[in-house]
Amino acid sequence: MSTSGIVHRPRRLRATPRMRRLVAEHRLHAADLVLPLFVKEGIAAPVPISSMPGQVQHSEDTLHDAVTAAARAGLGGVMLFGIPAVRDARGTQAEAPDGILQRGIRIAREAVAAVESETGRPGPVVMADTCLDEFTDHGHCGVLTDGPDGTAVVDNDATLERYATMAVAQARAGADVVSPSGMMDGQVAAIRDALDDAGFEHVSILAYSAKYASPFYGPFREAVDSALQGDRRTYQMDAANAREGLREADLDLAEGADMVMVKPAGSYLDVLRGVADRSDVPVAAYQVSGEYAMIEAAAANGWIDRRASVLESVLGIRRAGADVILTYWALEIASWLE
Ligand code: PBG
Repeated sequence: MSTSGIVHRPRRLRATPRMRRLVAEHRLHAADLVLPLFVKEGIAAPVPISSMPGQVQHSEDTLHDAVTAAARAGLGGVMLFGIPAVRDARGTQAEAPDGILQRGIRIAREAVAAVESETGRPGPVVMADTCLDEFTDHGHCGVLTDGPDGTAVVDNDATLERYATMAVAQARAGADVVSPSGMMDGQVAAIRDALDDAGFEHVSILAYSAKYASPFYGPFREAVDSALQGDRRTYQMDAANAREGLREADLDLAEGADMVMVKPAGSYLDVLRGVADRSDVPVAAYQVSGEYAMIEAAAANGWIDRRASVLESVLGIRRAGADVILTYWALEIASWLE
């Protein structure tokens, strides 16, 4: 026994930067980060998203530049969202071969290929959001039908057909990964079938498995000029439910998801840990627009240290079990890690 009586002194491992670096249990790597990007039809210059300082709606030209930057930074992926010039009730542009998201996918693939041949290193995986809300004039993630009491509800099975067609259009445009985010029952299986039938068995599915109805998607609505009327509570999950999130992940795994995701990340770290503990496939987490906006707003006011807060928020997501992290700070974090 030492004279002080203290046997264990955990502070020894915290005493110097070199010791702290050695014993860090978790690290961030650019290759695990995915950058979400918005591409808008018919604009000549990027449009800033006011609720997401530093983020923009890209034109086709600047999308190319952004994907090139993501590739040079060594990011693991880009997640593309399209904002069409014209919307209708069924979201027709979602499946149009020349729709804005399909054009964005082709542009991203070209940019990735160019950087790969220049550097000889693998570039980011090109992922596409597979959902109708950016393409419908009512802003819902599926097609509407009259519910039992006469109010409009999203028609699950009719929407599955739309997702299947959309996923095939994305695969045809060159998406490496399609990402169903509409929380329809059976969406992974429907998309897998359609991709396989069309000869795209090599295209992967990243399932937004445990996706909660969240106010933290608020800034995203501005980012995609969303027309949403009402809310998404009949298909996205209730914040009160953790077990249900695990069940959703299990269903997606059984339906053949190649990766499963929890979203938002920060308020659902318990669900993320639970999914990570039971998943045999890679687990992703999406740090969403409102999580981004909160830290940006507090930092802009001088209330928190921006860089330290960004890194801590993302490291927390990693620690909770995410292999892959979608974050609007992906590029900047990669530059800090260099
Ligand atoms: C659906 C989708 C949404 C987000 C990603 N995919 C919006 C929603 O479900 O309401 C939100 C992402 C974010 O807030 O950063 N296409």
